Amino acid sequence: MTRTSLRSLFAILFVFALAAVPLTGCDETTTDTTGTGGDGDGDGDGDGDGDTTLDMLIATSEFSACAGCHAPGAPGFVDGTTEATQDWTNADTALTTLMGTASGLGGLSESCNGVPFIGSSLDSSLLIAAFDENVRANFDVMGFPDCTGAAIGDMTLQIGTALSAATETLLETFVQEQIDANALYAEDPSWAYDHWAFDHE
Ligand code: HEC
Repeated sequence: MTRTSLRSLFAILFVFALAAVPLTGCDETTTDTTGTGGDGDGDGDGDGDGDTTLDMLIATSEFSACAGCHAPGAPGFVDGTTEATQDWTNADTALTTLMGTASGLGGLSESCNGVPFIGSSLDSSLLIAAFDENVRANFDVMGFPDCTGAAIGDMTLQIGTALSAATETLLETFVQEQIDANALYAEDPSWAYDHWAFDHE
């Protein structure tokens, strides 16, 4: 490739870069005003909409029970048994800790330590699996072959009730918002990488 054509290639790429930046900005604005997709920064300060769904979720009778076991010093917390990363004290602590992975599990569930609560899809999210028998049966997260089926605790047993249809929808909406926010976040570096690779061919 000649120097001149290389230079025009760079010029074209530059125009692409200029065009792509405001587009990304528009996307984010649209996302925020329509109320879908959290900002994914995990600070739960109300600047993204994921935590609004989480506020509604945590206010349900089912999810207000989580903090009875999953919170520092919770009365129902059993060391070496109860999942220990989650802190359902409030929406802020829940959002931050749900960005992490499971810990503190023993016995049958031990193989799930290290599995993310929010995966790349609803079906690969431990937070969904803990409430859905079918998701548990087919749960398959790379690197954790034994975290599947009965190894995943059934939280409807722990809270003593199945989720209402409305709560189930809130849970799935919240997890999907976080998945989308994570994808949006990952978009930018991969875009840059693709163009870097092309530049240097
Ligand atoms: C009575 C105590 C108790 C309550 C209430 C409770 N949990 Fe749990 N949770 C546990 C225990 C114990 C485990 C470990 C797995 C097991 O033994 O079932 C666990 C595990 C989990 C796991 C990891 C699943 C696994 O085994 O890999 C998730 C996710 C979870 N809980 C979410 C929740 C949420 C969300 C709520 C509220 C809706 C909740 N839990 C309510 C005790 C509780």
